[in-house]
Amino acid sequence: MAHNGNDQATQKVLVLDFGAQYGQLIARRVRDLNVYSEIVACDTPAEEIAAMKPAALILSGGPASVYAEDAPSVDPGIFELGVPVLGFCYGHQIMAVTLGGEVAHSEVGEYGPATLACDNGSALFAGTPLEQTVWMSHRDAVDRVPEGFHVIGRTDVCPVAAMECPERKLYSTQFHPEVRHTEYGNQILSNFLFGICGLSRDWTMDNLVEQKVAEIREKVGDDRVILALSGGVDSSVVAALGARAIGRQMTCVFINHGLLRKGEPEQVEEVFTKQFDVDFVHVHAEERYAKLLDGVTDPEQKRRIIGTQFWEEFFAVAQELDGVKYLAQGTIYPDIIESGARKTGGKASTIKSHHNLIPFPEGVHFDLIEPLDHFFKDEVRALGLALGLPEHIVFRQPFPGPGLAIRIIGAVSPEKLEILKNADAIVREELDAYNQRLFEETGDRNSEHSCWQYFAVLPDIKSVGVMGDERTYQRPVILRAVESSDAMTADWAKLPYDVLARISGRIVAEVPGVNRVAYDITSKPPATIEWE
Ligand code: XMP
Repeated sequence: MAHNGNDQATQKVLVLDFGAQYGQLIARRVRDLNVYSEIVACDTPAEEIAAMKPAALILSGGPASVYAEDAPSVDPGIFELGVPVLGFCYGHQIMAVTLGGEVAHSEVGEYGPATLACDNGSALFAGTPLEQTVWMSHRDAVDRVPEGFHVIGRTDVCPVAAMECPERKLYSTQFHPEVRHTEYGNQILSNFLFGICGLSRDWTMDNLVEQKVAEIREKVGDDRVILALSGGVDSSVVAALGARAIGRQMTCVFINHGLLRKGEPEQVEEVFTKQFDVDFVHVHAEERYAKLLDGVTDPEQKRRIIGTQFWEEFFAVAQELDGVKYLAQGTIYPDIIESGARKTGGKASTIKSHHNLIPFPEGVHFDLIEPLDHFFKDEVRALGLALGLPEHIVFRQPFPGPGLAIRIIGAVSPEKLEILKNADAIVREELDAYNQRLFEETGDRNSEHSCWQYFAVLPDIKSVGVMGDERTYQRPVILRAVESSDAMTADWAKLPYDVLARISGRIVAEVPGVNRVAYDITSKPPATIEWE
């Protein structure tokens, strides 16, 4: 794959990835310092690396022992390219053994915080104290540095916690500067990038907007582009970029399946007709979806019906438009890293099918444009803000493609949809306000108790209640609110009682057909976030 998402002479730091997850975290940290960084497989040949013209290399940590059979290795040629290299943990050890030093099994491993005594004559530790807390996670340790290197940091258990060969700009640490628990990790990384490599901070959102706009214009020329706009963050950012780059040469097709949250279709239409100048097509498919879903109770079948119909609706519009050459997609960098379809390399590239495989009908083909394919999610959000997208889109919660259909347990009906939309609107209003209060108190959007995702679920039961003097037999609504960072695991949010009471009180008072509210107090695992 050509690693040229941001050619135009942006400096690039390549992270050679020795183990799942490590590389991503380092690339994130480098980008947070406004330097572009990309992940490549640890065993990428030196010529290929040279061809990518990196300004610096970082060797990541990894779970293996350098002496293990199948231990990931590195092309020794990378140390001869004249490019500065920084290694962490496994990367520190691999640098040592590759260049003629020695790594030994230590008697005691070192896990967690440790006190580093460092030589602050080294440019790597500039501006940091002689003693500092670092995060360790290793059993093996370097016990002899390669020729030309010297030790610049030690801990009680680790005699070579950091080493350098400044003449060749080679540095490495046994500890992990990329984790937050390493007190001066950011400073150490900055020292390497700016002090040692002399890089500048050019990965900024304003630069990127200009760069992406220029790239889209150049690629598209006078041709037309089509985009399936869902109202989610990624496709909305692509639409906003497209609007800036090529305006009405881009057609944004918004398929309204009637399963979005209350007010959402109107908001999407408002933003992409009034605020951004694109060719906006609103497909009112609500009735077709209602018919297809009538009586369907199995969640997988609901998903299949909704997904298949989506592409039918989309291609029906696409085929009516003349001269469309490109299909724009909101694929983001983690999709690519995790995808087997287009590997960037790295041991993190476990095989998982590309989430965005498109079922083109017979005889139909478009070239793809994926302007976000080098961005992490929070960078996509920052880009969205820089483009002027409203916060309700930029900070939108994850929302399943099949929408409310999978939050209605059992068959979907207009009556149930109405109840769920109204109850869900109350949940969102109250918990948006709760999150906002936390944000104002802490200045942190992801503060400890803020809710990450919250919504209402409508189970397929009724229960007895009493309203005034009347017995009722109506539906319960279930409140789901979780704290999470990536949806892989989640905990139920410990919401204050007054917030819960207000949500419950408002739902039974304001939503006809509901006489009870329950709160789901299950974590993931064993439950999932959605009910389906
Ligand atoms: P579960 O229910 O598996 O959900 O814990 C994990 C996260 O994924 C979201 N989700 C989806 N997102 N398309 C999406 O884009 C889908 O079909 C889909 N299904 C679940 C869910 O909301 C949660 O954040």
